[in-house]
Amino acid sequence: MERIPLWIDCDTGIDDALALLLATATPEAQLLGVSTVAGNCSLEDATANTLGVLALADANDIPVHAGASQPLAEPLHLAPSIHGTDGLGGLRPMLPALRRRATSLSAVEAVRRACHEHARHLVLVATGPLTNLALAVASDRALVEMVSRVVVMGGAVRVPGNVGPNAEFNIATDPEAARIVLTAGWPLTLVPLDVTMRVRMGAKDTATLRKQGPAAAFCADALAFYQEAYRPELGMRAAPMHDPLAVAVALDPRLVATEDLPLSVETRGEFTRGSVVVDRRPRTRQESVAIGPLTRICVAVDAHAARQRLLRSWGGLSAG
Ligand code: BDR
Ligand code: CA
Repeated sequence: MERIPLWIDCDTGIDDALALLLATATPEAQLLGVSTVAGNCSLEDATANTLGVLALADANDIPVHAGASQPLAEPLHLAPSIHGTDGLGGLRPMLPALRRRATSLSAVEAVRRACHEHARHLVLVATGPLTNLALAVASDRALVEMVSRVVVMGGAVRVPGNVGPNAEFNIATDPEAARIVLTAGWPLTLVPLDVTMRVRMGAKDTATLRKQGPAAAFCADALAFYQEAYRPELGMRAAPMHDPLAVAVALDPRLVATEDLPLSVETRGEFTRGSVVVDRRPRTRQESVAIGPLTRICVAVDAHAARQRLLRSWGGLSAG
């Protein structure tokens, strides 16, 4: 079986952790490395959470590289109400004690090297603010030709945002970086709230996972915290699978329907900073002012197939 070389850049919060566990549990994925960025929690917490989650998955051989501790232009606003103050809903003590640290190679340099070493094969998945990837591509434009695909969890295209009327957390946390990454001109798939909010895990799913071994039980606890965090918004115990869906789409694009459209990121608007702006005008009208290159935008998802895939992978995890 040919495995897909994968890199994940994340701000390990709860759903990032679940996305990492999905990647490590999927035989057709070869997770080459993970880079961390501040977002849901501080860079230190995101890095510690990542190391702990990889230890849980018995994946201590996967290098972890710490990256940006702040967005490019504005101070960071963490998300403790959704992910807890440690980013993992207080669950870090359930993870194995850390036996290693992040490597001394920076996230930006590590991403750059991985793209070159696996030229035209590497799939880069971003599940946090895009600071690291922006710095990487700004320092080495050749990356645009080097990656097989960049898959970004972020944006709200035809649905409301989650941190502003149209703004989603990952993009709005560092809009300047998001603009660089989303308009760099590399083959990019956007996995926005439009599809991630449709793939949800409920109480039955947590109950099933709890019976499937220690790593699956950790997934169940993480999901339970996430379900509570989303209860006020959704009115029920259901956790949307933002970051796991991005990894699932990177591994199996057939899970989603897509549209290829030009887009950019608003960096100035008083009410719209951090929003993704999609240009749906007919091509003839776009020609005068093209706002960005074509991006593959996920517009619909086979939620049942996606849920089955996630549950199967987490259920099969063997703990370290
Ligand atoms: C995104 O924001 C973060 O809180 C989640 O980890 C996910 O990456 C959803 O908007
Ligand atoms: Ca995330």
